Amino acid sequence: MSFDQKIDRRGTDCSKWDMMEPLFGVPAEDGLAMWVADMDFKAPPFIQDAMKGLLDTGDYGYFCGLEKFTQAIQWWMKERHQWDVDPEAMFTTYGLGNGIAITLQALTEPGDEIITFTPVYHEFANKIGKTGRVVKELPLVTDETGLYRMDFERYETMLSGREKLVMLCSPHNPAGRVWTTAELKELAAFCIKHDLLLISDEIHMDLTYSGQQHIPMPVAAPEVVDRLVITTSASKSFNIAGSRTGTVSIPCPKLRARFEAFFRGLDMQPNLMGVRLTQAAYSPAGAAWLDTLKPYLEQNYQLFKDGIDAIPGLGAMPMQGTYLAWVDFAGTGMDRSEFSSRVAEKARIAATPGHTLGTGGETFLRFNLGTQRANVEEAVSRLQAAFADLQ
Ligand SMILES: Cc1ncc(COP(=O)(O)O)c(C=O)c1O
Repeated sequence: MSFDQKIDRRGTDCSKWDMMEPLFGVPAEDGLAMWVADMDFKAPPFIQDAMKGLLDTGDYGYFCGLEKFTQAIQWWMKERHQWDVDPEAMFTTYGLGNGIAITLQALTEPGDEIITFTPVYHEFANKIGKTGRVVKELPLVTDETGLYRMDFERYETMLSGREKLVMLCSPHNPAGRVWTTAELKELAAFCIKHDLLLISDEIHMDLTYSGQQHIPMPVAAPEVVDRLVITTSASKSFNIAGSRTGTVSIPCPKLRARFEAFFRGLDMQPNLMGVRLTQAAYSPAGAAWLDTLKPYLEQNYQLFKDGIDAIPGLGAMPMQGTYLAWVDFAGTGMDRSEFSSRVAEKARIAATPGHTLGTGGETFLRFNLGTQRANVEEAVSRLQAAFADLQ
């Protein structure tokens, strides 16, 4: 399967392309949709086969056989991430936004402060707000190589004492920082010291670049498992977010019982399509496909970074994984409305506004590179033209 194969998603009720005009004012006919974290590749054959298999039965009734689903998740986590996940510890949710919102409600109280390391995936703050909790932003810092780092020395001076839980994005969205074992251990020590629970959202775990290894939090820092919730899903890696299926894993039985007390009352069950597609994804065929996707994404990133860095005043942050590039427009001296309108109106690109990702994101836009190479090339040339006066 070639990732270069163009598919036109316009007019198919695909949010990424069909919401581009209403949300960003970018014309549907020739705009480029580079915002929401959804890739433009055709579903791989093993996913299509699973879907066809379901279709062929013509039977969409109540189902059993969930052990195969759990076994596939267990196999994947062990095979790809050296993580032994206990089936007893797992809960299936309607995707991870849902899993995070449930976890917040099950394990914290309204008014509790929830730590996020900003700039970060904007839905963290939205879920915190929607559930009546309070966002506590701890800003990331950029090191001399341009990578995001956590700055615990500074964070120690910023705490109010009302913080109850930390939300980590690992790898980080935006810019795909792949946290090291040492960094994860430092975070674990911080959580233990301040008696904080920890959600490690590892939805982007599979999308790492060459030389990078994602380390699941329970592998990096087993000392923190009694306060840990790990969220995973096949949705980003295999682009099956429409199946709305995610896994919340809670290794500690005591913490799990607290989660379960809330979860039970929601009476949620997995859906058949999500189960079948996840099973198909977490397979040897899925592993082989992913190993061809990752270099393609990395090459998209290299091409994009080279093109962006050639524009005076713009800088693409170095990436270690994911397809969510993070471009700083600070060097242009333009205010947010000016650089944003150049991107939306002149370049006709829908990108995610950085300020929505919290403190530190104000001068940035996030560009989704999970698309055909030709789209990335087109985006670079449109951006170069839109900022040509800076040359
Ligand atoms: C870090 C992170 N967590 C969660 C989600 C949402 O996942 P879902 O579609 O399963 O709700 C996303 C989607 O972009 C994400 O980037």
